[in-house]
Amino acid sequence: MASLEKSTLKVCITGAGGQISYSLLYMICDGKMFGKDQPVTLTLLEIPVVLDVVKGVILELEDCGLHLLKSAIATADPREAFDKVDVVLMVGAFPRKEGMERAELLQRNAGIFKDHGAIINDIAKKEVKVLVVGNPANTNCLIASTLAPSIAKKNFSCLTRLDHNRAVAQTAAKLGIPTCDVKKITIWGNHSNTQFPDLAHGEVNVGGVKKPALIALSDDAWANGEFITTVQTRGAAIIKARKLSSAMSAAQAICDHMRDWYFGTMDDNWVSMGVCSDGNPYGIPDGLIFSFPVRIKNGTWEFVPGLTFSDFARGKLDVTVKELMEEKSVAFEFLGVK
Ligand code: NAD
Ligand code: LMR
Repeated sequence: MASLEKSTLKVCITGAGGQISYSLLYMICDGKMFGKDQPVTLTLLEIPVVLDVVKGVILELEDCGLHLLKSAIATADPREAFDKVDVVLMVGAFPRKEGMERAELLQRNAGIFKDHGAIINDIAKKEVKVLVVGNPANTNCLIASTLAPSIAKKNFSCLTRLDHNRAVAQTAAKLGIPTCDVKKITIWGNHSNTQFPDLAHGEVNVGGVKKPALIALSDDAWANGEFITTVQTRGAAIIKARKLSSAMSAAQAICDHMRDWYFGTMDDNWVSMGVCSDGNPYGIPDGLIFSFPVRIKNGTWEFVPGLTFSDFARGKLDVTVKELMEEKSVAFEFLGVK
């Protein structure tokens, strides 16, 4: 009798010896990302001095006895890591330290995404889905996608789901409701402190009654002030407290992002994803990786259309657009990319 087992998904994780990956790898092999019936094979890319750490993590994964994990290899060769992969999670990069802004990371990390983008272009599957996590995530994603012209721009995304999850959690906590009762929250723009966490189209369920979030909150000063700055600066607050950047919550957000990209979003909700801005309905310039509200069906995301903006919101969008345009021109000049 033919086996009903799904064919194995080949997943590459870069920066596999780092702190995000330590949480992430278990989640993938436990089926939280691609489903409880989806076997995976992992290619784990690291720099040579960290390869032994990855080998140790593989020993731990074996000891967890996770039946979805068919095989895992540790490698420092991107050509081995990206060969015919279905999914690439680009986590490998140097994280921000206390007091550093993301712009300072550009020079440090841009070269990694240039090299990896070019190799993905050559040897990954053409339908590969790529998620960039390493900061500055939007511009690194733009670099990788630019260096991979044979792969559709729609197949490249960057992680703003952590910001989205933070915004949902802040709203839920303020109203004293579960996070599953907060919907249609949006993160616009850069994964940085210029991002615009937007409650204006949010919907909540308070005690069984559905309401617009702003009406339920009834506190515009909070929605336009503390809420926005708390979400914008959450990454820095975690670095200040932990002396390390977020890892467990980042791994959870990576899982949420990829699961929704594979399995789709619910009809009554949307998610935030950093995606190519080409053809967007909101007048954001083409050629950026920008966080938008998206709905996903059959593995393909689409912009959520028809949202309107106050002057306040338009002003916030302009700030994050400006920052991304500047990051793009610095990065492309530095890399000699046209
Ligand atoms: P980490 O330092 O613990 O791990 C990063 C790993 O990447 C290191 O082990 C390093 O050796 C490896 N690496 C560096 N260059 C590499 C290369 N060329 N090829 C393969 N691996 C390479 O950092 P972390 O805490 O796991 O964070 C990883 C990245 O994710 C950082 O850039 C961090 O700022 C970013 N981050 C993004 C978000 C987001 O929401 N977008 C959230 C949290 C962290
Ligand atoms: C985060 O948002 O937690 C990460 O991007 C880490 C950082 O540098 O803020």
